[in-house]
Amino acid sequence: MISVKSAAQLDKMRAAGALLYDVLQRIREVIRPGETTAAIDAFAEEIIRRGGATPSFLHYRGYPASICASVDDVVVHGIPTDREALCEGSILSVDCGLVLDGWQADSAFTVGVGDVAPELNRLIQVTERCFFEGARAARQGQRVGDIGHAVQRLAEENGYGVIRDLTGHGIGRAMHEDPAVPNFGEPGRGARLKAGMTLAVEPMISMGGWQVREEEDGWTIRTLDRSPCAHYEHTIALRAEGPPEILTLPGFVWEDGP
Ligand code: MF3
Ligand code: CO
Repeated sequence: MISVKSAAQLDKMRAAGALLYDVLQRIREVIRPGETTAAIDAFAEEIIRRGGATPSFLHYRGYPASICASVDDVVVHGIPTDREALCEGSILSVDCGLVLDGWQADSAFTVGVGDVAPELNRLIQVTERCFFEGARAARQGQRVGDIGHAVQRLAEENGYGVIRDLTGHGIGRAMHEDPAVPNFGEPGRGARLKAGMTLAVEPMISMGGWQVREEEDGWTIRTLDRSPCAHYEHTIALRAEGPPEILTLPGFVWEDGP
């Protein structure tokens, strides 16, 4: 069942989204060569709790941390570690979620660690653009497949692979609600979209193939061909007209109007 949130509920999700935006901005500032992902995770947990919220990933199905820290060919769900430091030239995806006053926010980004190769910067930029293309399609009256189609078109136009085994999702009181939001699809297919629906749209885009495998730790997902992968995610709220509000990007205005 896909739920539609009331104006009062959207206010609470807006507050959760704004806090998560601040948390991710502060995390961006501490990413540098020599830093460990465990230290970044500890910092994230501290600022989430100081904001009056709870980290939603911590203990979720036994997950041991407040962020996912996925380096290079790790697509998602990399577990923070203090056994190795971040290296210049790597790319790091940070995924984080929190619950504020009972309402969830979920967002992720990928950055270069220090200076990175131009082709990695391009992967990061195209993955961000894939999010905005997908999110822009998330409008009342359209369908879930329109979102995935928009993401897939831009990714494949650029010669990249769209991860298929993992999807975006509805979000609200729970981190994962209906519907699943794949990053590929056919226009006009899937569930009908309505104002008040809240979705996490999260393209995972690889420089090579779309196939992935899970490591023995039961979490870490890597590309099968070991090609680097970027991830970009926001929590959005659908409007009665025009493109959605991006709850985890407070103040964001769509540039070229509806
Ligand atoms: N943010 C992820 C998602 O979009 C969830 C991370 S899994 C967890 O589904 F176990 F780390 F929480
Ligand atoms: Co998510």
